Amino acid sequence: MGVKVSEDFQEFLRKGEGWKYERLEKDSEMRKVVERVFDASTLLTLYHLINRGTLDRFGGAVSTGKEAHVFRALNPEGEYVAVKIYRVATSDFKNMYRYLVVDPRFRGIHRDRRQVVYAWASREYKNLQRAGEAGVSSPRAIDYEKNVLVMEFMGEEGLPYPRMKDSPPADPERVFRKLLKEVKLLYREAKLVHADLSEYNVLLSPDPILIDFSLGTDVSSPMAEEFLRRDLSNLSNFFRRQGVSVPPLAELLEEVKGEG
Ligand SMILES: Nc1ncnc2c1ncn2[C@@H]1O[C@H](COP(=O)(O)OP(=O)(O)OP(=O)(O)O)[C@@H](O)[C@H]1O
Ligand SMILES: [Mg+2]
Repeated sequence: MGVKVSEDFQEFLRKGEGWKYERLEKDSEMRKVVERVFDASTLLTLYHLINRGTLDRFGGAVSTGKEAHVFRALNPEGEYVAVKIYRVATSDFKNMYRYLVVDPRFRGIHRDRRQVVYAWASREYKNLQRAGEAGVSSPRAIDYEKNVLVMEFMGEEGLPYPRMKDSPPADPERVFRKLLKEVKLLYREAKLVHADLSEYNVLLSPDPILIDFSLGTDVSSPMAEEFLRRDLSNLSNFFRRQGVSVPPLAELLEEVKGEG
């Protein structure tokens, strides 16, 4: 199966615009990238997503992370979407498992590599859905299957908005207040704690956009409080460095969780 799928898929990639830009013109280079990122099962999953009209053309890589790769692609309407592909073979599924078992939604999960990575992608999808329904500034969840998640592309002309880490806000005071509002909305309306919130997972458009929801945890989880503290102290540390006089953690917690 591998070879045939692989050749078809190279064709599919060639139709896209991004790979030229990434200068993967030579077949051997193309094959290396394809083999590293896409196993046969992932290729089939992408076929399903193409067949049901979620994806049309693949663009280039946007980001290569520890657990996942993010690509840009076009949907049949010619709009950019972001495709996040979690690696199955080389992801730290034991660590993922530790997070999943304390989430009431995934309590019964087996400690099986494939199952854990699939649950991880579905968890991010479900979290994005909940965040979106609550009106939190975040990419709209579009589709997912197995280890592949498709979401709204947050950027312009296929270039993602900059991460807050790489491009600190010109008006940190305002962005901090906005972010606090998003965390509050996420907590109260979506009943979620992001749990991986920091300047690495915020894009600026220049308004803040929360991304990377795979750790997002239901507020009923026994870990929720600790995660919320961690999120808020990450933001506090960043914005203090930007010269914002950030209130103490207890006050921020009260603002997010309190009745006021
Ligand atoms: N919806 C999106 N639209 C545009 N760009 C995105 C989108 N989601 C992610 N990106 C880009 O990909 C980068 C990595 O995304 P993300 O933080 O979700 O993954 P990661 O940190 O690699 O994954 P993980 O921490 O789960 O291993 C982001 O910094 C951003 O540049
Ligand atoms: Mg991230």
